Amino acid sequence: MTYTIVPPQKILNPQLEIAGGHALSGEIRVSGAKNSALVLMAACLLTRDPIRLRNIPPLTDITAMGEILAALGVQVIRQGEAIELNGDHINQSTAPYELVNSLRASFFCIGPLLARTGMAKMPLPGGCQIGSRPVVEHVKGLKALGAQVTIDHGVVTAVVPGQGHRLRGGRIHLDCPSVGATETLMMAAALADGETTIDNAAQEPEVVDLAGLLIAMGARVRGAGTQTITIVGVDRLHGTDYAVIPDRIEAGTYLLAAAITRSHLRVAPVIPEHLGAVITKLEEAGCRIENDGIGLTLRADHVRAVDLRTQPFPGFPTDLQAPFMSLLATAEGTSVITENIFENRLQHVAELQRMGASIRMKGNTAFVEGVSRLSGAPVQGTDLRASAAMVLAGLAAEGITTVQGLEYLDRGYADLEGKLNGAGAAIRRTSAS
Ligand code: EPU
Repeated sequence: MTYTIVPPQKILNPQLEIAGGHALSGEIRVSGAKNSALVLMAACLLTRDPIRLRNIPPLTDITAMGEILAALGVQVIRQGEAIELNGDHINQSTAPYELVNSLRASFFCIGPLLARTGMAKMPLPGGCQIGSRPVVEHVKGLKALGAQVTIDHGVVTAVVPGQGHRLRGGRIHLDCPSVGATETLMMAAALADGETTIDNAAQEPEVVDLAGLLIAMGARVRGAGTQTITIVGVDRLHGTDYAVIPDRIEAGTYLLAAAITRSHLRVAPVIPEHLGAVITKLEEAGCRIENDGIGLTLRADHVRAVDLRTQPFPGFPTDLQAPFMSLLATAEGTSVITENIFENRLQHVAELQRMGASIRMKGNTAFVEGVSRLSGAPVQGTDLRASAAMVLAGLAAEGITTVQGLEYLDRGYADLEGKLNGAGAAIRRTSAS
């Protein structure tokens, strides 16, 4: 088995030290989408042939997914921004608890593993900092495709009964448009016998990217990106070479970095339609955005309050709620921000308050009264996107901000400080101990 791991972080107990007040300029390059790359990697379990994925971001979450696939018997070869996955010799149907627990997205392997081998055992991933994160919809859907699913001692065991171990197509209605459940079920249905319909499916671009890969592997998938996805199962899928879409959340984070520093910055490559709701809100807040088809250039001088409600795509993404709150903490007027997707995704409020933000909370709603300046302070990133929000606040704050909790940031942003420094920011990675 060949497996190359991204070099581990060399600094002990790292933190980012940000000297605020520097304007950004020029261009920032956006990496491949983390949440697409993770599910596309899981899809390699569906075939005996090698799958080559390009535009894979260099992130610790990708390394973790590679380790999980390797534990299942997949050969994983990482070559720069490409990764080759060969699932010819899958020899395990059980994913190790520590690995699944370290990367919730690895639970999505249950769908392809079950479809390919007729059996999959996955520890329940449990909750995380942002909420409880159930997998009820994934399990319900697998049952609708004919799997027998039991949950014992924290482990989900799914088995395809009968000869041939083949799932059968079925009609699934998701109670909520879960991204992970939609992806799990699309992969399971790709090798099932007959037609599957997923109603109330997630419409996120990452779902469409998965459909793109599955189709390139020979699957018959229609309707990805709408509420109803239809998959006609095939006998086998084959290898392919496929490039991951640009990361819309990373792109949005850099647009917000430009807005909070009142700068002029181009962010590319992007697929502008993936950022529709974000662009609308930035424009409403007074930013000017030029769309050249493959890049977005933002210019900001005066930023005013706007209201945000997080929603499934094409609504405003929960993953940009925290970074957008940092911007609105510096806007003129009071913004009302409502988090509708995850029950515990407002922990950054307390950290922003430590930097002088004026925020009042009521349930899942934050009332953000913009202040004329934030002040640098030591803060903690409480989850991936909250950490990014702290970095943005630090870029705009007076003085030095130190952001701890980089284990989250490094999971989802490729060389965040390097990219921002290349555009004029002053950020150093230092040791907190
Ligand atoms: N939900 C249920 N039941 C289920 C599944 C989900 O009630 O069986 C609920 C969740 O509790 C949550 C909502 O549905 O309230 C949305 O959850 P979803 O399943 O769509 O999220 P996910 O697939 O676990 C992905 C991303 C998240 C992103 C969400 C929402 C990956 C690996 N993760 O998670 O990304 O926030 O969709 O867009 O694709 C991040 O990148 O920082 C991140 C957390």
